[in-house]
Amino acid sequence: MKEEVSAPARIRHANVRDVPQILEIINAWANLQEMLPRSPLSVYEGIRAFRVAERDGVVVGCGALHVVWGDLAEIRSIAVRPTEKGRGTGRALAEQLLTDAHDLLVPRVFAFTYVPGFFERLGFRHVEHAELPHKVFADCMNCPKFNACDEIAMVKELRKVDGTFPETGPLSRPLPRTIGGPHRVEPRMLDPEGHEV
Ligand SMILES: CC(C)(COP(=O)(O)OP(=O)(O)OC[C@H]1O[C@@H](n2cnc3c(N)ncnc32)[C@H](O)[C@@H]1OP(=O)(O)O)[C@@H](O)C(=O)NCCC(=O)NCCS
Repeated sequence: MKEEVSAPARIRHANVRDVPQILEIINAWANLQEMLPRSPLSVYEGIRAFRVAERDGVVVGCGALHVVWGDLAEIRSIAVRPTEKGRGTGRALAEQLLTDAHDLLVPRVFAFTYVPGFFERLGFRHVEHAELPHKVFADCMNCPKFNACDEIAMVKELRKVDGTFPETGPLSRPLPRTIGGPHRVEPRMLDPEGHEV
């Protein structure tokens, strides 16, 4: 008997009606300790960052691109249903998220993962956690493995970056009454009482 081969899943932007299925996929893997869980609130709040893979009206996979800063974004919550594994859907989702990052002019994408092999196939390389800026660890505060992180950090460069991003780096935020940063402020001279001169 001829085996039926179904069409590749279609990758599209997620919408709010996808959220229950997104949560079902992610949290089923999270229950097996394969990835970190997501709350309904965090998925609704981050829905614009999500892409889903759909076949015959069913969401069979998902993934999100979370922009961290001007030079960095993270692929998060990428997963497919167990029956969907090994069919190229994870790759299709990841490639779409990399395209999204490229379109946003983000030059570097990272992931924390338990499946480095999958990310290696997509051109990511291993890095030490310490090579990533502190900001990426903000969400770790909510992680049950805060003091025992065993996820592997992987990075992929999408564009050549010259220098150290003086316009977008973490130290470039303009402080009140200083010059510089991405939003340039005019220098102001103040007298000892704080009045402009
Ligand atoms: C990881 C996951 C998203 C991969 O999705 P998938 O649809 O099975 O992957 P694909 O079939 O698209 O595979 C893409 C490539 O990665 C490779 N690959 C997939 N899973 C792999 C693994 N666990 N280890 C090593 N390589 C892997 C495939 O061989 C394939 O290589 P190729 O395209 O060069 O031939 C999926 O297995 C999954 O949902 N796992 C559980 C959740 C999870 O761990 N998510 C990652 C959180 S960061």
